Amino acid sequence: MKIGSIEIPSPFVVAPMAGMTDTAFRRLVKRRGGCGLVVTEMVSSEGLVRGIDRTLEYAEYTEEERPVSIQIFGGDPPKMAAAARIVQDMGADIVDVNMGCPVPKIAKHNAGCSLMREPEHAARVVEAMVEAVKIPVTVKMRAGWNDKDRNAPMLARMVQEAGASAVTIHGRTAEQSYTGSADWELVGRVARDLRIPVFGSGDCVEPEQVIEKMKVGVNGVLVGRGVLRNPWILAQAADIAAGRPPRVVTLRERGEFLLDYIDLLLEQRDNEKEGFRHVAPGAEQKSVKASGHERWVINKLRALCAWYSKGLDSGSHLRVAVNSAESVSQLRRIVDEFFMTMPATV
Ligand SMILES: Cc1cc2nc3c(=O)[nH]c(=O)nc-3n(C[C@H](O)[C@H](O)[C@H](O)COP(=O)(O)O)c2cc1C
Repeated sequence: MKIGSIEIPSPFVVAPMAGMTDTAFRRLVKRRGGCGLVVTEMVSSEGLVRGIDRTLEYAEYTEEERPVSIQIFGGDPPKMAAAARIVQDMGADIVDVNMGCPVPKIAKHNAGCSLMREPEHAARVVEAMVEAVKIPVTVKMRAGWNDKDRNAPMLARMVQEAGASAVTIHGRTAEQSYTGSADWELVGRVARDLRIPVFGSGDCVEPEQVIEKMKVGVNGVLVGRGVLRNPWILAQAADIAAGRPPRVVTLRERGEFLLDYIDLLLEQRDNEKEGFRHVAPGAEQKSVKASGHERWVINKLRALCAWYSKGLDSGSHLRVAVNSAESVSQLRRIVDEFFMTMPATV
């Protein structure tokens, strides 16, 4: 399948998740296989244009992740067009617009899901971006703002006409946030209606669910929280799609994932080949290592383990232990003890 001119080798995608799906995490998921596309955490168009936002690092990606989509948020068409140009200059394959974030801090600035409340304006944002860049522009939206206004089918059509190359729908409304369940019937309806690729998102925790959701007629599925619990889920979905039983992941392999994540976070920017890491203009000088790098790594592991520990036997013990770790060496010891001393599989 292709998004614009970009070949997507598998329909299974790592969903963007602010604070979670950083470049190190995405690389590790990608190495496990089955992953056709990764999307960065959302980054502010305003920040990209001004080149001084503290969240510019969210736009960072590495060559290992291609094809890669950088997701931006904002509501001002000229600014979104300028930000899309920066994303293109960073060498990204795709630029994605966030029309799904329900967080008031974002939504009140006429960005994120509040764009769904003004469909004409949302289409103008897409149009301005499409005019500004050669790379594909895609949109990620929700089912609608609230239950009274589930307008994704209409807006998806409008952004297609505005030149979008693909659309993703998370089948919940902004008002639902993460409660209830995603409406895959609506997602399927949009998929049948549009000529551009349509992706669905929501509630795939097991690889079998990813395959099941494909049957509504989407071109692909973005997996969010499921990939934080189980970074092999895309590879396992690819196994099932190929007629194989999904691969079994040992406890030791799950532990190794966390140790690799620690290493990638600690070593990022060390001994990397020229051109391997792409950063937003203005973020070049900034190195988290300058201050509190170890603390940052510990916090990253805490955030991941809140999800990763779900579904593991004694997962709450792991969570409590990781939350009390005060150094990286302590973290490594905790992971070692939890995962490496038991031969069981999960
Ligand atoms: C912690 C977290 C952060 C998220 N951040 C973003 C984001 O930055 N951009 C976006 O489009 N969606 C974001 N999402 C939504 C996911 O991409 C996804 O559409 C949603 O979680 C439903 O899929 P799931 O049930 O597989 O998690 C986020 C979700 C979570 C749980």
